[in-house]
Amino acid sequence: MEIFLDTANVEEIKAILPWGIISGVTTNQKIFLTEKGINFKDRVMEILNLVNGPLSVELAKTGGTDKDLIEEAREYAGWGSNIVIKVPMWGDGKGLRIASKLKELGIKTNITCLITTNQILLAAKAGATYASLFFNRVRDAKEDPVKVIKESKRIIDESGFSTRIIVGSIRKPEDVNEAVVAGAHIVTIPYKILVQMPFHWKTEETIKEFDQAWLEFKKAERSQ
Ligand code: E4P
Repeated sequence: MEIFLDTANVEEIKAILPWGIISGVTTNQKIFLTEKGINFKDRVMEILNLVNGPLSVELAKTGGTDKDLIEEAREYAGWGSNIVIKVPMWGDGKGLRIASKLKELGIKTNITCLITTNQILLAAKAGATYASLFFNRVRDAKEDPVKVIKESKRIIDESGFSTRIIVGSIRKPEDVNEAVVAGAHIVTIPYKILVQMPFHWKTEETIKEFDQAWLEFKKAERSQ
């Protein structure tokens, strides 16, 4: 099971990397929008230099032809061997067509914006390296993301697909817990959620109790 950071913010990546828990980074157009005054390629290169693992960047030429999208993907893939191309699961099958072509070209893909088990099945059949299920957007659609993860994991395991399920759209620490227990291969977590995860009030209380015990022990030791 792996943890990715869902961010394009270098300070966030630098803060979490020393924890030794993240093995990749995912981005999308909304994530880049929150970064002000940056150049897209420069920021991607900066992240590639920091993180020794896959970095997902999303195709943005949504209205483009297959040729435009393949060109865009080839350009990004040329920036580094850790680049993974996020391909939206367009409803007309265009994303599957693009992902299949990119597989032929040896370019790693992350089929994204997934809501249903059927979409994950199709992503796996098309040879996607990753399939990104949007946990809370499944809930927004009044479906059960835990059920989708369990079903998809079973299909992937039983059919021997190499596609890894990334669970995104994480909005609270409990979502991570549910996604991992349901069988997600990878959970991609925003910084503001990840930094909450080491904390529990009872842990803090326990540490204080032990610190106090140590002070008392040292006092007793000195008075011997
Ligand atoms: C994708 O990996 C992201 O998690 C994406 O930003 C969706 O998150 P949201 O549904 O909370 O907007």
